[in-house]
Amino acid sequence: MTQIRAAITGIQGYVPEYVLTNEELAKLVDTNDEWITSRTGIKERRILKGEGLGTSHMAAEAAKQLLEKKNINPLDIDFIIVATVTPDYMFPSTANLVGEMIGATNAYGFDISAACSGFLYALSTATKFIESGKHKKILVIGADKMSSIVNYEDRTTCILFGDGAGAALIEPIEDTTLGILDEVLCSDGKGAEYLYQKAGGSRYPSSIETVTNQEHYLHQEGSTVFKFAVTKMADVSEQICKRNNLSGDNIAWLVPHQANKRIIDATARRVGIEDAKVMLNIQKYGNTTAATIPLCLWDYEKQLKKGDNLVLAAFGGGFTWGSMYVKWAYDSK
Ligand code: UT7
Repeated sequence: MTQIRAAITGIQGYVPEYVLTNEELAKLVDTNDEWITSRTGIKERRILKGEGLGTSHMAAEAAKQLLEKKNINPLDIDFIIVATVTPDYMFPSTANLVGEMIGATNAYGFDISAACSGFLYALSTATKFIESGKHKKILVIGADKMSSIVNYEDRTTCILFGDGAGAALIEPIEDTTLGILDEVLCSDGKGAEYLYQKAGGSRYPSSIETVTNQEHYLHQEGSTVFKFAVTKMADVSEQICKRNNLSGDNIAWLVPHQANKRIIDATARRVGIEDAKVMLNIQKYGNTTAATIPLCLWDYEKQLKKGDNLVLAAFGGGFTWGSMYVKWAYDSK
């Protein structure tokens, strides 16, 4: 049987218009631009405003623009995966809503909950669906409206997160030397209590009490998460590099989850990649959770060349983490 290889054949991002700067946050909580910039690398982030607009709005915008750019009929999409921890509803899935919003009525799909590693988990899933031979055009979307679960009275978290979405088109590719080539994906449920949204699920359904206790907001023990993130993201990136003979010389780009510039720098150092080859947009979007990696690919798309070696890496709530090796499949026009 001939092997079917999956590749990213298009990428598109969407960020809302409203820019929330460090200066504006300093009016809400006891913080300042110098602290935020030096500890995280973030200068501003985007916030989705507008009554009744959820994560699906941003996901659908990214998907629509991607299909337009690629001149693809939405009816040709056979599968949609949305990675998100801020779905519009507990159910139905955001993927379901997006399919309807973009007119992809021949598609089915589901959401993946893997926090900041969500895009990698979703990309891996789509890869297997393509490799099965049963699917030809899959939309993998990482999207989060983090502002819907962030407490803007908590200076330790509100400075970090932003809203955004990124959509990737995944298709089979003839040249099997290109595409999505390898992955290491991990999780450890012992990390759950360090980064989670306590209330609103079946264990702690929302109530007046959970709202009073502010348990409907994201909770993070920053320094614990930081320590795990620095180690784990670098570990898996190193593992992917070693087994694929990748090093600073032949890697074109490191594409890291954008949670904290210090975590990104540590991963780059471990893999031995110079700063100029590290995708970085944390300064303008902050941490958009499942959207950071596709937003990076979108921002840097014009600089990507067919055959470029990309190492994707993420760490997030769960804990979840992982790294993927992608040989970029096309030259941007
Ligand atoms: O994407 C999913 C995974 N998430 C992450 O990877 C995030 C990982 N964590 C981090 O990025 C960092 O831990 C933070 C940026 C959240 C915090 O940075 P830190 O260097 O770990 O600071 P810290 O939590 O150790 O706090 C140091 C000090 C504390 O004051 P004291 O106790 O030393 O007096 C904090 O209260 O900084 C204080 N602080 C702030 N000061 C000004 C915390 N937040 C702020 C703030 N402005 N916004």
